[in-house]
Amino acid sequence: MEDIILDCDPGHDDAVALMIAVASKDINLLAVTTSAGNQKHSQTLRNAMSLLTLMKRQDIPVASGNTKPLMRELISGVSMHGITGLDGAELPNPDFFSQSMSAVELIAKILTEHPKKVTLVVTGPCTNIALFLSVHFELRSRIKQIVILGGGMGLGNWGPTTEFNIQVDPEAAKIVMDSGIPLVLAPLNVAFEAQLLPDEISKIHRIKNSVAETISDLMDFYGISFGKQRWGFKGLPLYDPCTVAWLIDPSKFTSKRCNVGVETKGELTTGETVIDYYHITNRKPNADVLFHIDRKWFADLVIDCLKSFKF
Ligand code: RIB
Ligand code: CA
Repeated sequence: MEDIILDCDPGHDDAVALMIAVASKDINLLAVTTSAGNQKHSQTLRNAMSLLTLMKRQDIPVASGNTKPLMRELISGVSMHGITGLDGAELPNPDFFSQSMSAVELIAKILTEHPKKVTLVVTGPCTNIALFLSVHFELRSRIKQIVILGGGMGLGNWGPTTEFNIQVDPEAAKIVMDSGIPLVLAPLNVAFEAQLLPDEISKIHRIKNSVAETISDLMDFYGISFGKQRWGFKGLPLYDPCTVAWLIDPSKFTSKRCNVGVETKGELTTGETVIDYYHITNRKPNADVLFHIDRKWFADLVIDCLKSFKF
């Protein structure tokens, strides 16, 4: 059982990651913190709370984080996720309150009070985690590892060589990569493989419970965003769930320890993760980088988690 805090920017694929974290018996979701990324901070907060209301997990504390990247203006993911950040589905209004403290302080509270070390899972920009590491240096030892969806080796989805989460806040990503804390990075190399194929999407359509029906509607919208773009995928790549899926069964992935740096000053490459796969530099490996996934296992995990909801 992995004790986690999920820092996310819902976001269609964040919603699936959150659903798996709630459904899986292998994950103990201690808290959710939200970031400005796919949508502005107030919208991603609302989206996270709507999703937890839908899943009847109003017991999980939620707190909103930074309103913008550390040093830059916010890039929005509206082209992929729509004006609400979760376009395509009817979501319940949140029926509980978020915490009065910030994301940084909720993370600090959980790490202080929880008896075991906690895994931080990041499926949006690294802003909140970078702030936390900077403000609460004394709590770094309470972090088991940080698992991040972000970056790419030779791949991009927001720029030719840049992935959205890292590109939104490269300075924050650099703080996290340079922190010395155990890191697992799920870049586009593995995320692009984590696709749901049309027959699997059809299986999800046939699951009759309110959570599956909502996720199914969200996938339909998200598929339209992908369909009209240049990717040429056979299915629908679900980026963010790669993080919680790795925690559930790391054996379903291949990985390699590499040094991961973040470009913050490139004219064409700001936000690029520079992954030293062949150890060409003398930069010390700082992350386990995931490169491949057992796609069928992943799709079955999503489907089985959706089936587990009884309402
Ligand atoms: O590049 C993919 C990432 O950007 C995902 O986390 C998605 O939700 C968006 O935030
Ligand atoms: Ca996300």
